[in-house]
Amino acid sequence: MRHFTNVKDLGDLKQAVAEALEVKANRYNYQHLGQNKTMLLIFFNSSLRTRLSTQKAAMNLGMNTMVLDITQGAWKLETERGVVMDGDKPEHLFEAVPVMGCYCDVIGVRAFARFENKEEDYNEMILNQFIQLSGKPVVSMEACTGHPLQSFADLITIEEYKSKERPKVVLTWAPHPRALPQAVPNSFADFMNETDYDFVITHPEGYELDPRFVRGAKVEYDQKKAFEGADFIYAKNWAAFTDPNYGQILSKDRNWTVGVEQMALTNDAHFMHCLPVRRNMIVTDDVIEGPRSIVIPEAANREISAQVVIKRILEGI
Ligand code: CP
Repeated sequence: MRHFTNVKDLGDLKQAVAEALEVKANRYNYQHLGQNKTMLLIFFNSSLRTRLSTQKAAMNLGMNTMVLDITQGAWKLETERGVVMDGDKPEHLFEAVPVMGCYCDVIGVRAFARFENKEEDYNEMILNQFIQLSGKPVVSMEACTGHPLQSFADLITIEEYKSKERPKVVLTWAPHPRALPQAVPNSFADFMNETDYDFVITHPEGYELDPRFVRGAKVEYDQKKAFEGADFIYAKNWAAFTDPNYGQILSKDRNWTVGVEQMALTNDAHFMHCLPVRRNMIVTDDVIEGPRSIVIPEAANREISAQVVIKRILEGI
């Protein structure tokens, strides 16, 4: 593997999950791969899980790690070409990225959608500049349109907890006070569409995701109908994707909050969320604290998904 930006980079997903379970059982067996190699993690946005789990994964593989928060302590970066740089940004991404590439062997990048320009967001301008200019393998740690390390961890978790070969998995929109990117639901749909699970997406009208990620999956606008017989409920908020409402909040309807009443419609489903989660907006206290909630093992698997990806990259260097 050279870069990791979406599900296709993993190849056969069954093999990837099998490798993940092997790595999980023997996570310190591959330290030779990362000896004298350095992983640089670049954050344009905040993080708890991605920062810690990716660093831990790299350390499990014997790597040195460095973390840079672009918004704290680094020079403010200009990203547009042709700009007269007489404002508050003293450095251009075009110099900063190749310089970062000089100091490491693998780069992880987190750069969310900015909701200023849909085309720029959906063309993954910043992530692609790292791929083109760093000279090093690049791992998406959540970009504008996808969060594949999260979705790979989600898939590993579903495989660990499923009690039937072909579970019903429901991705549900839930309310949130701020406009959030579509990266997590896009990637989750992308991964689920590569499995033979019974996959259903439910959201209020107006919250349709990019068809390139939905890929013909069933969309049900009635959340209660969607929940019937579900084995896994995956909750997430996202802002509108479709024009002219790109990046906007269209609803904060708390009837969509996942509570005990909704979960009672399911086949005793496990509750999943990528975290961080706004309690009693996305999910009630009772559900997230309940016995069917698997948000903590799901987060723990972030270390494993990252380790498989970095391991494969190191094996190819
Ligand atoms: N799920 C996830 O990516 O968490 P962080 O934003 O805390 O990294």
